[in-house]
Amino acid sequence: MKDFCGRHALIIGGTGGIGKALAYELAQKGAAITVQGGSSQAHLDTTLKLLRAAGVQAQGFLCRLRSDSSVEQMLGRTAHPDILVCAWGPFKRGALETMSACDWHDLVWANLSLPGTLISAVLPEMLKRRWGRILLFGGTNTDTIRGFTTSAAYSAAKTALSVLAKSVVKQSAKAGIRCNVICPGLTDTEYTDADAVQYNHSQGVPPLSPEDIARVALTVLENPHINGTVIPVDHGLVL
Ligand SMILES: NC(=O)c1ccc[n+]([C@@H]2O[C@H](COP(=O)([O-])OP(=O)(O)OC[C@H]3O[C@@H](n4cnc5c(N)ncnc54)[C@H](OP(=O)(O)O)[C@@H]3O)[C@@H](O)[C@H]2O)c1
Repeated sequence: MKDFCGRHALIIGGTGGIGKALAYELAQKGAAITVQGGSSQAHLDTTLKLLRAAGVQAQGFLCRLRSDSSVEQMLGRTAHPDILVCAWGPFKRGALETMSACDWHDLVWANLSLPGTLISAVLPEMLKRRWGRILLFGGTNTDTIRGFTTSAAYSAAKTALSVLAKSVVKQSAKAGIRCNVICPGLTDTEYTDADAVQYNHSQGVPPLSPEDIARVALTVLENPHINGTVIPVDHGLVL
């Protein structure tokens, strides 16, 4: 079943890791895809080749997002998305007392303000069309309010995504728009800290693969009855 034929998906951070795996799943379902990547032309080229081989329209560009103006610029380069996926979400390890103002700004901007800004930008057209799917990526164990010893800034921003998703639902569930958050457990992507992967192995917990997460993400995107949820995909493990 090609559920997403005629739909256009914009995947922020879609040229590697979880975003790329989900782009591929969406392509298998017939969606036209636009992927945004950070700085690797090789990642972009490989991703577009993979998506086009799946027989869908695929385009992409590089844009290092770092400010509101870069978001505006990026949105100006792409058609309105029916499906918005915010996959890029940089992580920085560090105890709370070591986080600088700059760390706080960068982590909160990329992991909360950026998804919020994108949602505010795409929602009016989705409301007009009375159809839209939005998928956000939280952090490991950010599906509920918890304390974190080495990732407070990142995890605080990621935990707040649930407010964002549930606010989208309040405003637009009746207009056919769905918004959910997936919180992956440690996932072995090309961007994951090698020490963290090693640590998981040493604890007898193999990391997830990007494809593991992407398959759950596709199920969520496909099912209109799932809305405003925050779904951990982490083997039930709390760090
Ligand atoms: N991996 C994990 O263990 C894990 C666990 C929990 C949650 N998550 C969350 O899951 C999501 C996906 O994670 P991920 O591991 O697949 O990788 P990621 O590093 O969050 O995303 C990689 C993608 O973002 C692009 N990118 C890099 N720098 C950028 C910038 N300055 N501006 C815009 N795009 C940029 C990359 O492009 P280039 O290839 O060109 O750099 C690539 O397309 C994130 O939100 C992350 O926080 C991941």
